[in-house]
Amino acid sequence: MVKRLRVGVLISGGGTNLQAILDACESGRLTAEVVFVGSDTPQAAGLERARRRGIPTFVVDYRAVTAAFRENPGAAALPADFRLEEIRAKQGLMGNTVDPARVDGFLVSRAMAEAALLAAMREIPYDLIALAGFMRTLTPYFIDRVNSDRASLRLMNIHPALLPAFPGTDGYGDTWRYGCKVAGCTVHFVDYGEDTGPIIGQRAFPIREEDTLETIRRRGLEQEWELYPECIQLFAEGRLRTERMVHELPGGRRFERSVVRIAPAA
Ligand code: GRF
Repeated sequence: MVKRLRVGVLISGGGTNLQAILDACESGRLTAEVVFVGSDTPQAAGLERARRRGIPTFVVDYRAVTAAFRENPGAAALPADFRLEEIRAKQGLMGNTVDPARVDGFLVSRAMAEAALLAAMREIPYDLIALAGFMRTLTPYFIDRVNSDRASLRLMNIHPALLPAFPGTDGYGDTWRYGCKVAGCTVHFVDYGEDTGPIIGQRAFPIREEDTLETIRRRGLEQEWELYPECIQLFAEGRLRTERMVHELPGGRRFERSVVRIAPAA
């Protein structure tokens, strides 16, 4: 008997992926329950989907937090356990060509918002956090506190492209503009980079001559609604394991990466 996984979902927008997860929980396709829904945007329409079902919701208004920081950076109320040097060293969101002051400002303002998210999340026990159209990059400060046990990742994201192609906020748009003949979506664990974490599942579909960005988005979302609950179910069944792979390549090069291994169904 698989125990019901407690899933916390974070959203920014319409929440159709949240809806797919809720529906899969209801139909029994997913041995899970959504225990809370959080958002960075007070107007996120998806919040209503949770409220209708009596699921607790919370909002951390990122826009307000970052605006307050920009106005008066000196007054930043940082969480007591925030160590800027450590977070700066770990983050893989911005390269070393970016002005260090900008990097620090970004990390500090995000940590303020992330501390508020974590405080709300602490109220309700969870086994997994699923980002479902949560349009904010998360820093190592947040990621490490969700993955309190380093050996077991429990922060998942769905991305609208076949990673590692087209990370960022507009995966379908980037795929389309590039002239790709295949589009797709990816569910992955979150690491310190931008959409770079170990891949759990992917779905691909052909791009046809008559397709537009709109039809690609539509078909992509339909794939997402199936893929995300499937990946969460694999997690619920304890079938996901992350393994560090090291490959020796010609010319003495090495390729090292954490990959997800999926155990066969019991
Ligand atoms: C999805 O395409 C997801 O992959 C991306 O943002 C979109 C969210 O859609 N990260 P919704 O809010 O779940 O409808």
